[in-house]
Amino acid sequence: MSLLEVRNLRVRFETARGWVQAVDSVSFDLDAGESLALVGESGSGKSVTAMALVSLLPRPPAVIETGEARFDGRNLLALGERELRRVRGREIGFVFQDPSTSLHPLMTLGEQLTEALRVHEKVSQRVARARAIEALAEVGIAEPDARVDSYPHELSGGMRQRALIAMALMCRPKLLIADEPTTALDVTVQAQILELLRELQRRHGLAILLITHDLGLVADFARRVHVMYAGSIVESASASELFARPAHPYTLGLLRSVPTLATSLEHPLSTIPGSAPDPTKSVHGCPFRPRCGFALASCESSRPPLLPPLGLQRAAALLSAQGSRRSACFESARVAAEART
Ligand SMILES: Nc1ncnc2c1ncn2[C@@H]1O[C@H](COP(=O)(O)OP(=O)(O)OP(=O)(O)O)[C@@H](O)[C@H]1O
Ligand code: SF4
Ligand SMILES: [Mg+2]
Repeated sequence: MSLLEVRNLRVRFETARGWVQAVDSVSFDLDAGESLALVGESGSGKSVTAMALVSLLPRPPAVIETGEARFDGRNLLALGERELRRVRGREIGFVFQDPSTSLHPLMTLGEQLTEALRVHEKVSQRVARARAIEALAEVGIAEPDARVDSYPHELSGGMRQRALIAMALMCRPKLLIADEPTTALDVTVQAQILELLRELQRRHGLAILLITHDLGLVADFARRVHVMYAGSIVESASASELFARPAHPYTLGLLRSVPTLATSLEHPLSTIPGSAPDPTKSVHGCPFRPRCGFALASCESSRPPLLPPLGLQRAAALLSAQGSRRSACFESARVAAEART
């Protein structure tokens, strides 16, 4: 049994413009100690998926239409607020995009780090402070005994993000959800934070759900990658398979827009033309069709299901121990063939 099993999650929002289908039939598994990435453009439903798992969506306007999220055997979506409070912070930790909005400006790091401990565990102030110093040291903050009394504005962006990771891990959760944890940071610091997450994962057997719009970040980080488009997972594969042979035109487009050392004047970066469909309108056929260079007339008549790529099943089964490669595209074999050229 996986640590987290998400099945058929559908979330929509009631807005002045009508219903917004933010997450549409999302399913995935995450094993204990595993790293998984949800990748996609802005608005594709990554954060709403993560927030729905731990009931952090404002309801209304959000409505969870269907779905199950089994975490350690319990359906998170059916838990009451008291049980959820136990799970949040204690069993599932979070790191969000912008450290400046996630840390309280008027509280010291020590006060913020020990808050979760005081809520979840009955420990003395002395023990809590010692644990906070230990946690700051673990995330690589120098002079943690002094830093524990610092205010957020006294730290650099990278240090604030480290402090947030320390905070998320105070109660030693089994799962860390990191939603764009490095977006606000410069490239060097980004790499350091990802390396820190990898190290913490190895040391504590932590499962990590990494959410990012940047496919370039996940290559060395996640074992499995789910690519989201317009609220749905459109491709799912191990990171190595996905990078070697994308089987959905959207993934191929994302890969071609990742800067590499080979990017040059002769081989400039490409972008995916067009924009995602209006989430208030129901889509007939494949939602990626208006932007897709592989589209055929048949792509208009029905929506492609998320299945092992046609024509690639045998190769996929050979390549992947789990044989769990999926793509929601009628032309996946053609896409994979083009990706190799
Ligand atoms: N509170 C809300 N009210 C109405 N619509 C919302 C709300 N929160 C999210 N949405 C909509 O749900 C969809 C998915 O949003 P979500 O925040 O999950 O995107 P995302 O993939 O995390 O994007 P980003 O990379 O920009 O963070 C979007 O169309 C968004 O406008
Ligand atoms: S199903 Fe058709 S339109 Fe959709 S991604 Fe595949 S080729 Fe493109
Ligand atoms: Mg988001």
